[in-house]
Amino acid sequence: MLRVENLTVAYGSVQALSDVTLEVSSRGVLHGIIGPNGAGKSTLMDAITGRRKPTKGRVLVDGEDITARPVEWRRRHKGMSRSFQRTSIFPGLTVREQLELVASQLGEPGLDEIVDAFELRPSLDLPADSIAYGDQRRVDIALAMIGKPSLMLLDEPAAGLSTTETISLFEHLVALVRHRGVTALVVEHDVDAVFRFCDEVSALDLGRLLVTGTPAAVRADPHVITAYLGTAA
Ligand SMILES: Nc1ncnc2c1ncn2[C@@H]1O[C@H](COP(=O)(O)OP(=O)(O)OP(=O)(O)O)[C@@H](O)[C@H]1O
Ligand SMILES: [Mg+2]
Repeated sequence: MLRVENLTVAYGSVQALSDVTLEVSSRGVLHGIIGPNGAGKSTLMDAITGRRKPTKGRVLVDGEDITARPVEWRRRHKGMSRSFQRTSIFPGLTVREQLELVASQLGEPGLDEIVDAFELRPSLDLPADSIAYGDQRRVDIALAMIGKPSLMLLDEPAAGLSTTETISLFEHLVALVRHRGVTALVVEHDVDAVFRFCDEVSALDLGRLLVTGTPAAVRADPHVITAYLGTAA
């Protein structure tokens, strides 16, 4: 469903992503992306969603080369949505106004399922920037779920959350991915959560793909162990 071939992105002389090839073959799959700081995870998300043009390589969705297509086209025609590493909540709007604004842009008729899935009903009429940070992160993902995306890219949805909040967020995410047949690519620093909840995992380091595989295979991979021990030292 999603295939990335030899994806390379340079920021001036910094090679943020080098020759990354990976595939997410089926729907309803949660695919985790892990890697130390600066590994190129956000750059990979930017290149897949069209926010950043690759210097080399291709992005294919359902076999179609979309490398030259803009962000909006990808969302409209390929059902590709995204949430950012930092919360993208508008100050001043209530949670409901925020959700309805995006829903009206994308022609989503009903928000009930999303509101309930993320337990947002109690905060619907509160200013979105006044609710607890963990709730704001759930609003971020709810915003990315609007418009029935088929492919979601979430950049550190659990950043800043406690372990308990992270687990709860991943449980919501897995339920939604399964229920709606959505494919989700999730960048996450909490590797325990990734290994527990993701169906498959890709590990990056210094812009290169180290390995893609099952959580057990990736956890045991010597390159992954070295990359993590190297940064912890
Ligand atoms: N706009 C930019 N201009 C120049 N260099 C950049 C830019 N964005 C990222 N980089 C560099 O590219 C590399 C990859 O960055 P990226 O943000 O993709 O990593 P990351 O894996 O998401 O890291 P983190 O875990 O800290 O979010 C890093 O060396 C970073 O400093
Ligand atoms: Mg990042």
